[in-house]
Amino acid sequence: MAKIDLPKRDSFGSKVGIIAAAAGAAIGLGNIWRFPYVAGENGGAAFLIIYLSFIVAIGIPIMLAEFSIGRRAQRNTFGAFKILKPNQPWYIFGLLCVAMAFMILSYYSTIAGWTLEYLYQALANGFSGKSSDQLSGMFSDFQRDGSRPVMWQLIFMFFTAFIIFRGVKNGIEKYTRILMPLLFVLIVIICIRSVTLPGASEGLAFLFYPDFSKITPMVILEALGQAAFSLSIGLGALITYGSYIKKKENLTTSVYAIATADTVIAILAGVAIFPAVFAFNIQPDEGEALIFITLPNIFQEMPGGYFWAILFFTLLAIAALTSTISLLEIVVAYVTEELKISRRKATILSASAIALLGILCTLSQGPMDELTFFGKNLFTIFDKVTGNIALPLGAFLIAIFVGWFMGRNNVKDEITNQGKFKGRLFGVFMFIVKFLAPLAIAIIFLNGIGLIDLSAFSAPAEYEVIQNNVQISADTIN
Ligand code: PHE
Repeated sequence: MAKIDLPKRDSFGSKVGIIAAAAGAAIGLGNIWRFPYVAGENGGAAFLIIYLSFIVAIGIPIMLAEFSIGRRAQRNTFGAFKILKPNQPWYIFGLLCVAMAFMILSYYSTIAGWTLEYLYQALANGFSGKSSDQLSGMFSDFQRDGSRPVMWQLIFMFFTAFIIFRGVKNGIEKYTRILMPLLFVLIVIICIRSVTLPGASEGLAFLFYPDFSKITPMVILEALGQAAFSLSIGLGALITYGSYIKKKENLTTSVYAIATADTVIAILAGVAIFPAVFAFNIQPDEGEALIFITLPNIFQEMPGGYFWAILFFTLLAIAALTSTISLLEIVVAYVTEELKISRRKATILSASAIALLGILCTLSQGPMDELTFFGKNLFTIFDKVTGNIALPLGAFLIAIFVGWFMGRNNVKDEITNQGKFKGRLFGVFMFIVKFLAPLAIAIIFLNGIGLIDLSAFSAPAEYEVIQNNVQISADTIN
């Protein structure tokens, strides 16, 4: 039987390209609406400090772990585990990564579609002259309509597929190299506009004033969860991108740059949103609705609001697009390499299948909202299952794999490029992936599925009494 040679693998052409693509995967709807909202609810600056320490202590090591797996194996998530541990069932996890990417993309593309509707409305001056109530009615009418959200979702999937169709170097790298700097410039402009609004300081105080009394074990878990979601770890997106990184590149410095970009954009998003929210007396904890209902309100009342609205929704669509391509690439890499289908066919097939499931997710928010499982619609189930279970579990398994199964020397070879770099922090990295990260993530996971209840540990009332006593005794001594 003739041996089938795999076609020569595509790869990122430059380090800037790798960083743009992976930062693009990380930066998404999670940074722009989720981060500011979660940070605001959980003590602002105090939350930020914990979040940043999780990015450094857990997020960065797991990103590096995913890159190491991908580059070592030079394969998709399924093939990577098959090559690195042929006789162990780790490939099942690789396959689950593909399935999870499929699921996340099907509902993420729903929200991505909303960004296009809102961009369209912004261009058509559709927010103009509408009251707050009319604007929220506009959002729910749009949801209930069904056909429009589906249309935008399909258009968004088409753009995603178009970029993936073109491959790694001429598709992902080429577009993210332009889109990511553009995103950064846009968000800085919106920040400047936002912080110069009258009353902006209250919003900045809300985001940056450290209120340590708000920190509870739950807040710590929220920070860890947000760090994992935001960095796109636990799903093999970075295994897949890692497999396109050339052997000569330094993985560690790339990871530092990506994590820094992701964090900077999240903080900038907070700076862009909260001053405006407070300046216009909006509730800061509206979650998803914060952007789609409240911001048009804000833009409408801002001088030059027509342009700010267009800028903002362009930015949001770009952020979503660079994340959706990373999700589709996980699936396409698997289909091309394992099912031996050409990249073009694989892209069309995968994108169409995801779009079909995606349509169900979109409709479950509107005309099909009666179709529920365990009392939740499909969209919410996908969101909860992937976010609360799959990502933490995935990050946990990646840490375990690199810490205990991949082989210390293999990991070291990848991280130090066969000893070319010193890898001074290698011991710390191994300690984290072997012990610290799995333990921390296990706690989030068990709490997430309700097996342990960490809220039982937070007893603010008693804590305050103790604190007051300490205060009194300290005063007495003085
Ligand atoms: N990190 C992306 C965001 O912040 C979401 C994402 C998670 C994308 C996992 C790919 C994989 O929106």
